[in-house]
Amino acid sequence: MDFKNKVVIITGASSGIGATCAVKFAKASAKLVLVGRNVDNLSKTANSCRNFGLRPLIIVADMCKEDDIKKIVDETVKYFEKIDVLVNNAGITMMRDIEGGIEAYDRVMRTNVRGPFLLTDLAMPHLIKTKGNVVNISSILAHRPMAKMTAYCMSKAALDVFTKCAAAEFGPKGVRVNSVNPGPVRTDIFKAAGLDEETNEMLFSTIEKGIPLRKVVSSEDVAEVVLFLASDKACCVTGSCYEIDCGASIQQIKA
Ligand SMILES: NC(=O)c1ccc[n+]([C@@H]2O[C@H](COP(=O)([O-])OP(=O)(O)OC[C@H]3O[C@@H](n4cnc5c(N)ncnc54)[C@H](OP(=O)(O)O)[C@@H]3O)[C@@H](O)[C@H]2O)c1
Repeated sequence: MDFKNKVVIITGASSGIGATCAVKFAKASAKLVLVGRNVDNLSKTANSCRNFGLRPLIIVADMCKEDDIKKIVDETVKYFEKIDVLVNNAGITMMRDIEGGIEAYDRVMRTNVRGPFLLTDLAMPHLIKTKGNVVNISSILAHRPMAKMTAYCMSKAALDVFTKCAAAEFGPKGVRVNSVNPGPVRTDIFKAAGLDEETNEMLFSTIEKGIPLRKVVSSEDVAEVVLFLASDKACCVTGSCYEIDCGASIQQIKA
């Protein structure tokens, strides 16, 4: 796949799936905009991308802050003069259930839903000009609710509906909007939610044993699907929520 002269914004490019997508897009010659809050980690991703000859634009921005979200679009257009692809990847989870969980609800929904909604809205005039596309990083938990992760599951369900509504609204203007819904991926997401290294590894090895393919998806696997959906090869795909989970969502839940 070739993204030569395509301007690609990736939120949450400082870690995990977003950082891996950045390197894959760089290999495919994209002009990259890397967004996140941690400038040191963004610089590490940018350095990995530079191995392929391109200098990404780094934008330090918090997806919970409206001024920061506006800055992402303004600085991208000022620097690269257009936007072809928006990857709404930045996201958090919190291990909370409903009881006493309103703070988690507000934080998770603000980051995982409100942020992508606003950024997509502000980027859309530019995406319409280029007949570009949006890829939202959702989760299989959008369709497979789990106690203790209520706000997260709700946020990803909302993101999937947002994907379909946006695809319906902007399809006639030539813009495609899709989701990628991964199963569990070894990244820092659970550690950021408070899990220590050992518990995190125990969680993943337990999950692996129960998944039909007996492995979890890697960030690279997810990035392959993101690049496909963002490319012209997926020119007839819009409003889809593309699951990649080694069969996790068809496994039987043990009572
Ligand atoms: N790992 C999984 O098992 C899994 C499964 C399904 C879906 N996903 C989804 O995949 C996406 C990426 O997660 P990951 O697993 O790669 O986790 P990760 O390694 O923790 O990365 C999360 C990224 O989101 C950014 N981020 C978080 N809050 C932000 C905010 N307020 N403003 C700007 N950036 C913010 C972080 O950047 P900074 O810290 O620099 O701000 C970081 O780059 C998320 O949407 C997640 O829900 C993950």
